Amino acid sequence: MAGIVPFVDLVAQYESIAEEIDRAFHEVTASAQYILGARVEQFEQEFAHYVGAEHAVGVGSGLDALRLGLLALEIGPGDEVIIPANTYIATALAVSEVGADVVLVDCDPATYNIDPDAVAAAVTPRTRALLPVHFTGQAAAMRPLLELATAKSLVVVEDAAQAHGTRYEGRPCGSLGKLACFSFYPGKNLGAYGDGGMVTTSDTTLVERTRRLRNYGERAKYEHVVKGVNSRLDGLQAAFLSVKLPHLASWNEARLRHADAYIRELDGVGDLAWQQRSDSSTHVYHLFVIETKERDALRTFLTERGIHTGIHYPIPIHLQEAYRDLGLGRGAFPHTERLAEETLSLPMYPELTEAQIVSITNTIREFFATRRSR
Ligand SMILES: Cc1ncc(COP(=O)(O)O)c(C=O)c1O
Repeated sequence: MAGIVPFVDLVAQYESIAEEIDRAFHEVTASAQYILGARVEQFEQEFAHYVGAEHAVGVGSGLDALRLGLLALEIGPGDEVIIPANTYIATALAVSEVGADVVLVDCDPATYNIDPDAVAAAVTPRTRALLPVHFTGQAAAMRPLLELATAKSLVVVEDAAQAHGTRYEGRPCGSLGKLACFSFYPGKNLGAYGDGGMVTTSDTTLVERTRRLRNYGERAKYEHVVKGVNSRLDGLQAAFLSVKLPHLASWNEARLRHADAYIRELDGVGDLAWQQRSDSSTHVYHLFVIETKERDALRTFLTERGIHTGIHYPIPIHLQEAYRDLGLGRGAFPHTERLAEETLSLPMYPELTEAQIVSITNTIREFFATRRSR
């Protein structure tokens, strides 16, 4: 047994870079640049470069990156934004918060990402934007979505909250749409030690607008040109993220190795299946997701043996109380609903050990062996 296996282990990651992080902490506290400032600008440049965009704007969270990005695009009341039904609720909330209408479409059951044919069918004269999510760390089918957007004069906004480092047809996520939004929530592939987010874009007008929106709509000190908000990446988080960014490629490689090991070890076990890899995209495995009809029993079995798992996501947006106003019931998005019932996310973080993976996969095998013998 490898003892308790957490779903993510942020302490193990901190310990591996503690010296660098502690130094960054002392540098920022010595400079007292806590809000925006040089470290934020430095990280914005590093991150923009990393994702192949001209500009990046650090904001308070992934949700705010989406919200301010949509506001910068002047999307609001009367507009429709098409998003996947299979995503975290933040994607929908950002659309609602700017006053636009959320239009959900189902996912491809093999890749779990938004189904481009369903997107095409959902476009109306009120559609302004397509907002695909690179779900679990694998890029959405961007080529057909970008083609559709060009044909219909729509903008594409990437929700890249789960896709730091993912490449689609060789190009980094974050540089594919008009604008892209990242989250630095601690458990993300590139996570801060608190909330944080980033908008990336190569459009100078959009970058200007987003910069103003995040800081009270200021053009210059005490000169407010729009009704902005307070949503700024802080100096400490930026400094921590600058320390972490050079490690991201090797962390993502470790995640991929762990996913390969899971697939190898679990092949043919019970009724298990998993998310299909797309030929057009790399996968940074923010999450490693398995499917089984016995999801809930398997989850309990693993929990009882100290193996922590997650469900992404147990209640689809259209079945959430907050979105009752959409008037959509069970059956509206069958693929998303099935995934909500049958998927389970296994422990996934770079520092996961071989022994832990063996323990997890052996326990899963044991579960299915006991089911067979009943
Ligand atoms: C797909 C997706 N979009 C948006 C968000 C929102 O990010 P945050 O939690 O930083 O606001 C998250 C993560 O939480 C996410 O997974």
